Amino acid sequence: MQHKRFKDCEIFKGKTNVTYEYNVSDKDINYCIVEVDGRFPQKGVAINKKCKEMAHVLSGEGRVVVDGKSYKLEKNDVVLIDKLEKYYWEGKMMLGVPCSPAWTPDQHIELEFKKVTESDKEQLFNLIDIVLKGLENQEYFIPYEKWEFESMFDDKNYAPLYGAYCGDKLVGMAQLYVSQDMLADFKKEFGLTDKKVCELGGNLVLPEYRGLGITTTLQTIELNLARELGFDYCISMAHPQNIGSLKTLEKIGLNFVKETRLSNGFLRSLYMLKL
Ligand SMILES: CC(C)(COP(=O)(O)OP(=O)(O)OC[C@H]1O[C@@H](n2cnc3c(N)ncnc32)[C@H](O)[C@@H]1OP(=O)(O)O)[C@@H](O)C(=O)NCCC(=O)NCCS
Repeated sequence: MQHKRFKDCEIFKGKTNVTYEYNVSDKDINYCIVEVDGRFPQKGVAINKKCKEMAHVLSGEGRVVVDGKSYKLEKNDVVLIDKLEKYYWEGKMMLGVPCSPAWTPDQHIELEFKKVTESDKEQLFNLIDIVLKGLENQEYFIPYEKWEFESMFDDKNYAPLYGAYCGDKLVGMAQLYVSQDMLADFKKEFGLTDKKVCELGGNLVLPEYRGLGITTTLQTIELNLARELGFDYCISMAHPQNIGSLKTLEKIGLNFVKETRLSNGFLRSLYMLKL
């Protein structure tokens, strides 16, 4: 049995939160009280990689946004957030938060999804370099051509580019190829020569950040952008053995078309979605 007093809590103060941590020593469960005042985290979303987080609204009101969906909260509501769900709190409320297994900082990250700008050029090329050098099969990625490297920030003639950031660190990227010239051969392959087509690609995530839904989130953002920009179809292609890549395409709703060897020699599973 353990008995902990509020006065003995360890206190952590952030700009929009104060956390009172009860030092219960148990690896299966722990507890804290969080006072939220504003948006917490201030930017982006929080993710627990290992623990489920329950929150009981002790006082006040606000909302929690989980995987993009907003839930209004008032006194005595209870929320259970599963591991790997992406969430943030907003409002003025006091939450009683048990976590199981016990919450630890090493299994918690905060991510922000946003456009990559030229100020992050160096980080971007580092990310590309690390991921491409570490590919388990070099056939998984059709290498960038020189003009593509030079056009990384050209939204109109090449590809809007989005990134996932952990703090200031760029940890994942995704592109929406929009150039009809660049896509001409692929459009033939899909039987879409007379349509306005865009392609999801450039999905690269640092190994230690994989499996957190980063690509799924970035591709969802880009699919919404493709609709806004008035494209007729969105296509994408992945090596038939690149399970992670195939799974993300299926998760966001693209449909398998066929498996084929492209004119550039790469074997690919073809996917598309009518927008
Ligand atoms: C492919 C890649 C971009 C996926 O990125 P990611 O951010 O880890 O993908 P997500 O977390 O959104 O995963 C989506 C789904 O695929 C699953 N998945 C991801 N990688 C997987 C793998 N290697 N094996 C099995 N399933 C995998 C996830 O578990 C998740 O499914 P779930 O929600 O049912 O659990 C990443 O693994 C990567 O950078 N690979 C090297 C580069 C590459 O091959 N890029 C693709 C060519 S464009």
